[in-house]
Amino acid sequence: MPTPLDTAIARLDELGRISDSPHHLVRTFLSPASRLAAVEILRWMASLGMEISHAADGTVRGILAGSSPRNAPLLLGSHLDTVIAAGKYDGALGIIAALAALETLQQEKIILPFPIHLLAFSDEEGTRFQTTYLGSRSIIGPLDPDTLAAKDAEGVTIATAIAHQGWHEESTTICYAPGECRGYVELHIEQGRVLEEAGEPTCVVSAIAGQTRLTATLTGRADHAGTTPMPLRRDALTGAAECILAAESLATSTPPLVITVGKIHLHPGASNSIPQTVTFTIDLRHPDDITRANALAELHHTCTRISEKRHLTLHWQPIQNNPSTSCDPALTAALLASLTAVTGSHRLLASGAGHDGVVISKICPIAMLFIRCRDGLSHHPDEYATPADIGTGIQILTHFLKSLAPSHWGQSLRSLDFNIFDF
Ligand code: GLV
Ligand code: MN
Ligand code: MN
Repeated sequence: MPTPLDTAIARLDELGRISDSPHHLVRTFLSPASRLAAVEILRWMASLGMEISHAADGTVRGILAGSSPRNAPLLLGSHLDTVIAAGKYDGALGIIAALAALETLQQEKIILPFPIHLLAFSDEEGTRFQTTYLGSRSIIGPLDPDTLAAKDAEGVTIATAIAHQGWHEESTTICYAPGECRGYVELHIEQGRVLEEAGEPTCVVSAIAGQTRLTATLTGRADHAGTTPMPLRRDALTGAAECILAAESLATSTPPLVITVGKIHLHPGASNSIPQTVTFTIDLRHPDDITRANALAELHHTCTRISEKRHLTLHWQPIQNNPSTSCDPALTAALLASLTAVTGSHRLLASGAGHDGVVISKICPIAMLFIRCRDGLSHHPDEYATPADIGTGIQILTHFLKSLAPSHWGQSLRSLDFNIFDF
C-alpha cells in the first residue's frame, strides 16, 4: 500500500511527463497538455471523494465538504501551468502535496468543520500571454478588457483563446467574493538558495515581492547588410542590445532589484538584412514598491534616450504591475506554529518569485510554505526537491490542517483570536 508521500512522488513524475513539447516540459494556458494535466488532477481529486469541477479557462477544483458544508471554505492550491523547459515541481508540487495532506487526514478520519476547496490554476506563469496569474485572477472576478485583449505570439487574444480553446463542456464558474473564504494556503518550492544554505527543509513565507512586466518595441529601418554604411543605419537590434545592457547595469547597481529580458523577437530576421523591429520583454522586481516604480521610470528614461540617439522609435507597453504582498499575520502564525511543531524551525522568508497568493490576498488571508530545492534552481529541467523534504512539507501542511479540527484546537492557536476559527 503506497503512502501519501509515495503517491505524491509518483504523481509529480506523472505530471512532469505531460507536456506540449517532446523535448522539454511546457504547459501553457489552455494548451492540450494543460487540459490533460487538469483531467489527471481532477481524477486524483475524485479519488479522495472530492466534488470536482472545472472552469472554462482550465482551472480545476475539488471540494471536500467537511462536517459543515455551509461554513466558509479554506482554499488550498497552486498552478498547473509551467514555463518553457520547466522543472516538474514549480506549481505541481503545491497541488499534489495538498492532495497528500488531505489523504492523510482521511486515513486518520479527521473531518474539518468547514469545506476545503483545492484549486489547480490554469495560468500563473504568464508563459503564453506574458500576463501572470490568469487562473487566480479569474477566481476573484471577470478578467478586465485590457487583459482579455492581450495577445500571444500568434496574435490570438486571451478572449479568443478562451472562446475557442476553452474547456466549455460542463464548465462551472469558479469565483469567490471578498470575505467568502477563510484563507488560502499554498505549498511551493523556494526557488532560491536560503533554505539550502541554512540547512533547513522548509520555512513559512512572510511576503511576496512586487513585479512589473512589460514589452518594449524598438523600430528602425530594414536595409541591406552589405551596402549600408554603419553611420547610416537605424538598427533596432543594436539599440535593443544597448537598452538590455542598461537594464542589467541598473539592476546590478541597485540590489535587490532584478531585471530580466527573457524573450526577444526581431523582424525581418535575415542574416543579410538590418533588423527593423525588435520586441523584448522586461520583468522587473523589487520587494519595495516605491523603489520598483523609480527603477521602472529610470529604465524607461534610459531606453527613450538610447532610442532617440539611434533614431529609433520606442513603444513601451506595460502589461502587469503587481504590488508587494504581505502574507496574513494570523494565518502565517498558525502555519509557522505547525512548521515549528514538525521541524523546530521558526524561519520566515520573503519570496522573490511571484505566486497566486498575490491575487487571492484581495479576497482572503493568505499564507505559504516553502520547500528547499536543490541549488535553489527553478524554471529549469534540473529543478529538484528531495522526497524527504517534500514529506516534511506534507507533514507540516497536514499538521496545520489538523490544528483546525475541533479535536486538535490548541490553546496557543486559539489565543491568537484567529479568524480561521470563526465559523
Ligand atoms: C513565477 O514563477 C514568477 O515569479 O515569475
Ligand atoms: Mn510557481
Ligand atoms: Mn514559476
